[in-house]
Amino acid sequence: MCGIVGYVGPREATEVLIEGLRRLEYRGYDSAGVAVMNGSGVQVRKAVGRLSALEKVLSGNGIHGGVGIGHTRWATHGVPNEVNSHPHISFDGKLSIIHNGIIENYRELKRELIEQGVTFKSDTDTEVVAHLIAKAFDGDLLHAVNAVLKRLRGAYAFAVCHNDQPDRIVATRMGSPLVIGLGDGENFIASDVPALLKYTRRVVFLEEGQLAEVTREGVKLFDSELKPVALKETTTSLTLDAAEKEGYEHFMLKEIHEQPHALAETIRGRIEGERVDLSELNLDAETLKGVNRIALLACGTSLYSAMVGKYLLERFTRIPTETWSASEFRYADPVIDPGMLVIAVSQSGETADTLEALRIVKAGGARTIAICNVMGSSIPRTVDGTLYTRAGPEIGVASTKAYTTQLAGFVLLAVGIGRMLGRTDEATEAKIVEGLRQLPGQTKALLDEDIVAVKRCAKRYKDVFNFMYIGRHFNYPTAMEGALKLKEISYIHAEGYAGGEMKHGPLALVEGTFPTIAIAPQGRTREKLISNVQEIKARKGVVVMLSTHGDEEARELADYLIEIPACEEELSPILAVIPLQLLAYYTATQLGRDVDKPRNLAKSVTVE
Ligand code: M6R
Repeated sequence: MCGIVGYVGPREATEVLIEGLRRLEYRGYDSAGVAVMNGSGVQVRKAVGRLSALEKVLSGNGIHGGVGIGHTRWATHGVPNEVNSHPHISFDGKLSIIHNGIIENYRELKRELIEQGVTFKSDTDTEVVAHLIAKAFDGDLLHAVNAVLKRLRGAYAFAVCHNDQPDRIVATRMGSPLVIGLGDGENFIASDVPALLKYTRRVVFLEEGQLAEVTREGVKLFDSELKPVALKETTTSLTLDAAEKEGYEHFMLKEIHEQPHALAETIRGRIEGERVDLSELNLDAETLKGVNRIALLACGTSLYSAMVGKYLLERFTRIPTETWSASEFRYADPVIDPGMLVIAVSQSGETADTLEALRIVKAGGARTIAICNVMGSSIPRTVDGTLYTRAGPEIGVASTKAYTTQLAGFVLLAVGIGRMLGRTDEATEAKIVEGLRQLPGQTKALLDEDIVAVKRCAKRYKDVFNFMYIGRHFNYPTAMEGALKLKEISYIHAEGYAGGEMKHGPLALVEGTFPTIAIAPQGRTREKLISNVQEIKARKGVVVMLSTHGDEEARELADYLIEIPACEEELSPILAVIPLQLLAYYTATQLGRDVDKPRNLAKSVTVE
């Protein structure tokens, strides 16, 4: 996946492009490039590595002009080098293009172009599209782009410029996001809203298959038959501040500390007195009675929130619920029926596997809901209803506030549906609602505490090669998520296991210096997990206990003790994961890792 940005207006295009790319670096940071038109042709600058490398190139060898496109890359086809970086230029030197996505049939198209005598410079799928559009160009870029789209299979957001129409950018999307920013005598395009915020908050989200012709004077939209389409302008509520670090060393740390506010936002307006209010989802008891099973679709951290979601939904609604890694679901020949309620979980709303799995269930007639953070993204636009988590932009690649707000979203959903079906009683609902109300304050208290044991652990164990995380029931997914956070940003191997599974194999790993993090807050499986810890201690393993304040047994057993506030066990995964996020963060910073942009990863995985 990649970030794309475009500008048409009176400013120096490179300045706008670099500003936009900085906000999009979370989408990819292998290499970056810009192309600028200035009436005498297109000029291109590229650099391998972070955006700062491109800035260095531009400071020594700048380009001037008011129309330009820029790209930050996460490699899919071809290694990250200068030649494979975008923008790509057509065989005649006249057309420049940037692309986010994958063209699945690029090999056959490339073969065809080579037979026609076109020479390729890069290994990318994008270069194929540059040559195809250049060949189709007969004086009208919009027509040429549209003609070529009909030949492409895969996912894309493109922005294209041509020397013979140097006043415009033509942009389009299918399966990859693209938003247009409307200015005064200037206009913008970008993969995501933060790239536009310095200049405008007036945005138009391009729909699948639409094309946009962007000039200084205005923006025209067309459907795939090139019939004009009305612009649906909205004003984004996102602010630039929300996309900045605000004094924190890393976005990840800032986002960890934003959790009290993010949780309060997720809950806001959705609890009323002692009740959960899900009216925004237009669900009614009649429809819900027809639901015979629930399937949860997600990837990565969102998948772990879905694992907690399964326990919550089954507890409060008694509807059988299954959790699927969306990338597995797509190819598992899943059984889909109209009685199925599918919930897709995604921070970005753009994860390709989740989106595709969703399309499959929609085609099968299932009812769909999303739990999502990014308003107007592809997943919410695909489903019947969305519970937005309102966590604000999450920039750090490692997901933190998106996870805890997804968990809060699942609690709301499970209790709300449970009550509508008459399977959750009023007293239980009132108890959980009160717990939700306390969550932002408890989260803040936990973060303010400056958890000493976490920092000590990070310092002591930063050089080990392996970590084990164990938990049970609601906190089994917490173990998975804690392990994912650690491996993702510190590059230390970590595994999350169900505590009861230790004796079925992993216990063999335990010896004198092997650290296990045992997540054992109050709840019905606490005692069972304590027994698993005893088994580890008996083999001289090191144990970091994560338990509820005042648990003396845990204190006695622990080599390191991390305490969280007392809460309902259904809410404990929200509090328990916070020290684990911090443990991963401090371990990674001790090791000097690039916390916000870990190697080989990108924030949104918009390719399969
Ligand atoms: O945007 P999504 O929630 O759909 O993203 C899913 C995963 O790619 C994401 O959670 C990933 O695992 C995170 N980097 C984990 O911290």
